[in-house]
Amino acid sequence: MLRVAVLVSGGGTNLQAIIDAQTAGIIKDAKVELVISNVSTAYALERAKNANIKTAVIRKKDFENVQLWEKSLSDELTSNNIDLIVLAGFMTILSAEFVNKFPNKIINVHPALIPSFCGEGFYGLKVHEAALEKGVKITGATVHYVNEIADGGEIIMQKPVEVLEGDTPETLQKRVMQQAEWDILPRAIQLIAQQTIKGTL
Ligand code: GAR
Repeated sequence: MLRVAVLVSGGGTNLQAIIDAQTAGIIKDAKVELVISNVSTAYALERAKNANIKTAVIRKKDFENVQLWEKSLSDELTSNNIDLIVLAGFMTILSAEFVNKFPNKIINVHPALIPSFCGEGFYGLKVHEAALEKGVKITGATVHYVNEIADGGEIIMQKPVEVLEGDTPETLQKRVMQQAEWDILPRAIQLIAQQTIKGTL
């Protein structure tokens, strides 16, 4: 069983999709053992507690600098023997130093079809605002490995979603989550778990 940590900052609907996929048997070879939030009021923490998952709050502002914050983050992950780190609405960019400590062990869900609407400054609703401003007719979501370039790691899975007449950033965000993110993130976790167990990754 792959030991998974999910890093969150907000509502945690993607975390919920992962928990539900475990219950439904879509995720068979991985288990969420730890949820870490950088925001103490994140509703995702409630979702974790309701599912009896261990939680930790590690906030940047409680540390003297980013390096010490990241050290605390990596200590928590290492001491819990985590095999796979899932960024699910984790609204902060991790340094190259941190990312390089966990090569091919960090994945992220991004609410657009990378390489569109990604990189620094593109997160949450801003991504959907940019997609609507550009007038794209198709958007979607991407699950990718995390490397030192923001949203630049290898793509694992993508799913397209139609933009509809009259969409607002909020309605588009909801459709992208429902039709794409909550589907491909759990499937990508199972895929990685399966490949790791088989020794093909
Ligand atoms: C999701 O749409 C996720 O893709 C996005 O934030 C939302 C978090 O929702 N992440 C990013 O934009 C990261 N670049 P959730 O907390 O309900 O899962």
